[in-house]
Amino acid sequence: MTDAQKHLALAHFSALIDEQDARAQAIATQSDFLDYNTLDKLIIGVCGGDGIGPTITAESARVLQSLLADDVAAGKIEFRTIDGLTIENRAACGKAIPDDVLAALKECHVILKGPTTTPQAGDGWPNIESANVAMRKALDLFANMRPVRVPEQGIDWTFFRENTEGAYAVGSRGIHITDELALDFVVTTSEGTRRIAKLAYEFARANGKERVSIVSKANVIKTTDGKFLGLSKEVGADYPEITTDEWYIDILTAKLIDEKRRRDFRVFVLPNLYGDIITDEAAEFQGGVGTAGSANIGKRYAMFEAIHGSAPRMVKEGRAQYADPCSMLRASAMLLAHIGKSAEADRLNAALDKCMTTERALVVTGRDTGATCRAFGDYVVQTIEA
Ligand code: IPM
Ligand code: MG
Repeated sequence: MTDAQKHLALAHFSALIDEQDARAQAIATQSDFLDYNTLDKLIIGVCGGDGIGPTITAESARVLQSLLADDVAAGKIEFRTIDGLTIENRAACGKAIPDDVLAALKECHVILKGPTTTPQAGDGWPNIESANVAMRKALDLFANMRPVRVPEQGIDWTFFRENTEGAYAVGSRGIHITDELALDFVVTTSEGTRRIAKLAYEFARANGKERVSIVSKANVIKTTDGKFLGLSKEVGADYPEITTDEWYIDILTAKLIDEKRRRDFRVFVLPNLYGDIITDEAAEFQGGVGTAGSANIGKRYAMFEAIHGSAPRMVKEGRAQYADPCSMLRASAMLLAHIGKSAEADRLNAALDKCMTTERALVVTGRDTGATCRAFGDYVVQTIEA
């Protein structure tokens, strides 16, 4: 390594430290959660994304609008369409989220967001940051809540994935120091950990879940994961009625497929990357990532999305109209619950249980062998109204 290479790397590192220090200070002095009851009008942004995103998002927005029709008519809720989060537009602007799109998002309170294509080195798109990851950071959506339920197997899990830190905090800004040597960075802050742990425990308390499992790899990633584990345990001490246990991510991954043990898990709190990986595994038990919704919650904003990607191949093969909207519909139910419409959330979830599992009068297969997204949306609306 030359001196120049080393100095460049140090300057880069120095800038990252300053930025993360500023972020740590900002979140430590942040105000509390916005109370939606204090608003004259709640604005729901609908952002289609790309690939199958616009199809499944439009369908979910239609179901939401039917459930919230009275509030919309009374001017208490407004739906607002936000265009421009397509890969083509993001690539043209060279930004993960174009400025005008971000400004429009910030005028909303909650957002229903379709999947967006994430460029990766060598796929032909400029290597911009993922729009999901950028939005989580830009709106400080620090908690990624992902439920997985398979009642007949005793599976009732809710994952609280830390959503703005860990390996993702500066994940697109590692450094190639020399041709030989590359370095990435992992970030943990005290407030970043406490706030996600607190949300997980508060959820457990409010919903009568008797166990919170703190997941890390603190035996190896001693500094950042060690801090995450230590502070989460400290938070857990304030909830004496809840059993806290600690798991390393590797053995937890194994135990999720252990039929006897996995019934005991309820709530998980875990760093960003582990949460990303394990929620795909977990969703597989309830029928795959196409069935799983995800809430990205911050103190001022919240965004609801599918846990899967934009399936560009379906669009290329002309099958977008057969895309399965269930993940976005589950996300829509989470949106309803989040804005205090728990009766409507329950109605939507009950209809989805029926349409997806018990009745299955229409089945989406992703091809012309199954129902279209639109027809399935109609089926859900009719089931809600029945
Ligand atoms: C998710 C996705 C994203 C993530 C991708 C698309 C960047 O996998 O929401 O889990 O890694 O967080
Ligand atoms: Mg993922």
